[in-house]
Amino acid sequence: MLNSFRFRLTLWWAGALAVLLIVFSVGVYSLLARSGRGRFDASLRSVGEVTAVSVNHELEEHQGREAGEPSIGLVLQTMHQVSFPRPSIVVYEGGRRVASKAGTEGLGDLSPGLPEGMQNQGAYRIAVFRTPVPSLRATYTILVSQSTAPLEEELAGFRRILYFCVPLGVLLASVGGYFLARKNLAPIAALTYEVNRITSSNLHQQLPVVNPRDELGQLAMTCNALLGRMRASFDDQRRFMADASHEIRTPISVALTAAQVTYEGEARPTAEYREALRIVVEQMRRLKRIVQDMFLLAQVDAGAFEPRVTSFYLEELIQEAVRAARILSSPLHVAVRVEADGEAPMEGDEGLLRQLLVALLDNAIRHTPADGSVTVSLTTEPGSWCVAVADTGSGIPLEDQPHIFERFYRANKARTREAGGSGLGLSIARWIATVHEGELTLAESSGRGTRFVLRLPRRGG
Ligand SMILES: Nc1ncnc2c1ncn2[C@@H]1O[C@H](COP(=O)(O)OP(=O)(O)OP(=O)(O)O)[C@@H](O)[C@H]1O
Ligand SMILES: [Mg+2]
Repeated sequence: MLNSFRFRLTLWWAGALAVLLIVFSVGVYSLLARSGRGRFDASLRSVGEVTAVSVNHELEEHQGREAGEPSIGLVLQTMHQVSFPRPSIVVYEGGRRVASKAGTEGLGDLSPGLPEGMQNQGAYRIAVFRTPVPSLRATYTILVSQSTAPLEEELAGFRRILYFCVPLGVLLASVGGYFLARKNLAPIAALTYEVNRITSSNLHQQLPVVNPRDELGQLAMTCNALLGRMRASFDDQRRFMADASHEIRTPISVALTAAQVTYEGEARPTAEYREALRIVVEQMRRLKRIVQDMFLLAQVDAGAFEPRVTSFYLEELIQEAVRAARILSSPLHVAVRVEADGEAPMEGDEGLLRQLLVALLDNAIRHTPADGSVTVSLTTEPGSWCVAVADTGSGIPLEDQPHIFERFYRANKARTREAGGSGLGLSIARWIATVHEGELTLAESSGRGTRFVLRLPRRGG
């Protein structure tokens, strides 16, 4: 139950409310009690003061105890009549009881020796006053007392109300909060249900967004965006699988057909067997390259590929790649030139960069007609090395240009199928440029030729 968000929410809400109510009740109660007791004391004090003044006045006016003291009794009698049954009053002179107001109760055991001020005696509150009468050279003590029981009873009643109302309020609010939480959390439950229904086969579904501006709407939109990204990556993967199996099927079928046709039936001349084997070897080589490329891409996608970084000279790597490319270009009568002077120190994965150059050279040579040329140049730009591979070939059709870096994309498919490319060369080449924090772009391509430009960061300027 504690794992339920709804329960915890209710608990928090009830706890906060309980603390608030308790603090509020304690505050109100102590304020009320203080002001009640304050007023109680003030009324006792004022009665005491009036009595003290009267005692003084009567004694002074009648000039002596004999005449004055009985009239103190009369004064108290009058006070009793107007304020019955309020405070009891007793007047002492020294230890002698001079007068007391009718109905005076609870003062029997009160000694006139009590110190001046407010005193507590059992359930009674007593105000003690001393008033000197200079003409008689005597000091009169006035005790005003009243039971605090009605006030305390009133406060106890208020306490009882609080004891009952605070827990009841918290309980009612908790029950209400629990149902409110259910109502508020219902969209989350609905969202959970919807998300649970999504599998790889219905990724195209979208979660309903009730209010795009509230938190739940934002959550649903975030989930939808996530679903979109997953869908895109699933689609990529599916396309990759479909393209890959298609690419692998072709060389296998060609090799199988060549082998089968030659193997079955009558014995044939050696030249035909050799030709069949040539086809098989060529197709297997192509298959090997495709599988190698796919393996590299699979590693890249899984984030498992670690480039092996070393220091080397870029111009040497270019010369080396061109030498290898000439093996392909010379039978096709395509000249490959290099324009790279000076040293170009570089840090990176030499093997990957060689693969990149070979892919560009391979494309350029394959798409350049006989007597054309391919030129590789190395120049410097602020902060980077710039390697351009230009050919005098037929160019890439305009509509294909935006796609040539996509996996398995081949421009002008029917024509290049024979050349044996699988369409992975440029996508891998671009990835290699990116791992080196560089970029590979198609600078220009027209009927007169194509130029690819590779920029690699130059360390130390
Ligand atoms: N220099 C170029 N001139 C004309 N077309 C080119 C050139 N370079 C690339 N292309 C076009 O771009 C397409 C994609 O090139 P990419 O290198 O990725 O694949 P591929 O050469 O067909 O196959 P792979 O390189 O995997 O053997 C090619 O099929 C080709 O049509
Ligand atoms: Mg290629």
